[in-house]
Amino acid sequence: MNNLQKPRLAGVMGWPVDHSLSPALHRFWLQENQLSGSYVPLAVRPENLKKAVLTLPMLGFAGVNLTVPHKEAGVAIVSQVDGVARRVGAVNTLMVLDDGTIEGRNTDGYGFIESLAARADLNILKNRPVAVLGAGGAARAIVVALQDFGVSQIYVTNRTLEHAEALSEDIGGEIIVVNWKERDDVLAEKKLLVNTTTLGMFGQPALEINLGALPTTAIVTDIVYKPLMTPLLEKASLRGNLIVDGLGMLIHQGRPGFRAWFGVEPTASNALRAHLLAAGAR
Ligand code: ATR
Repeated sequence: MNNLQKPRLAGVMGWPVDHSLSPALHRFWLQENQLSGSYVPLAVRPENLKKAVLTLPMLGFAGVNLTVPHKEAGVAIVSQVDGVARRVGAVNTLMVLDDGTIEGRNTDGYGFIESLAARADLNILKNRPVAVLGAGGAARAIVVALQDFGVSQIYVTNRTLEHAEALSEDIGGEIIVVNWKERDDVLAEKKLLVNTTTLGMFGQPALEINLGALPTTAIVTDIVYKPLMTPLLEKASLRGNLIVDGLGMLIHQGRPGFRAWFGVEPTASNALRAHLLAAGAR
């Protein structure tokens, strides 16, 4: 199939959608690849999501991203979801298929792993235990991706224990739920620490955590990218841990959609990072 014959159309549905950096991301790639397609922000109220999604084929869209608060609701609207999206319980990338039906995928976990792989040798994670802070939507995608990658146990700690328990129950496998107040102790022997909470983000409280028990050989990553250098990453870097900021996950989660919609494999360049930082990712 040649996607380059006519301008292709894609976008992002959110409510609100103004904060989304996806237009800046995909428009950068469109320009870089000299493609004539468009990527538009679509402000869609939750009560209109189904109608809006089902209208996409009629409007000639190749697909869209779904962002907050639509990712979970999207699962029940599309005709088919892939196995990863089903386990995560959310879709962030919709593709309009040739027969006019819509497939939903979840590329957040893919983006997470690709972002880490670009900066670190992930062999150190194979069959080793890791720690995840938080149990929201992002945590679910990351836990599924870490399972598929082949870590051993995933220790999940969250302020609201029931949310971590629900995550563990829904996803299954070797997930160990830990009380939030024990988050310092859980770090012993872990090869990776991931912050998926909003703590440390501009305008949010700081993430209070003592990294003393974490091996200095562990990778530390934060999905927060405003600021890029979170206090957690600063602290981890000072004690010698390899750190990975949250911008890479944003970039890499967008690649499968762009490839499907516009027919070109996009790249994660330093120029793109600079562009996104200028567009507001800081
Ligand atoms: P996302 O989809 O980005 O993961 P989310 O579903 O709103 O967003 O999840 C936010 C995460 O940050 C949750 O794990 C949340 O903890 P709760 O399950 O207890 O709500 C965590 N979080 C937010 N504010 C927090 C705070 N002040 N202290 C600790 N954890 C917090």
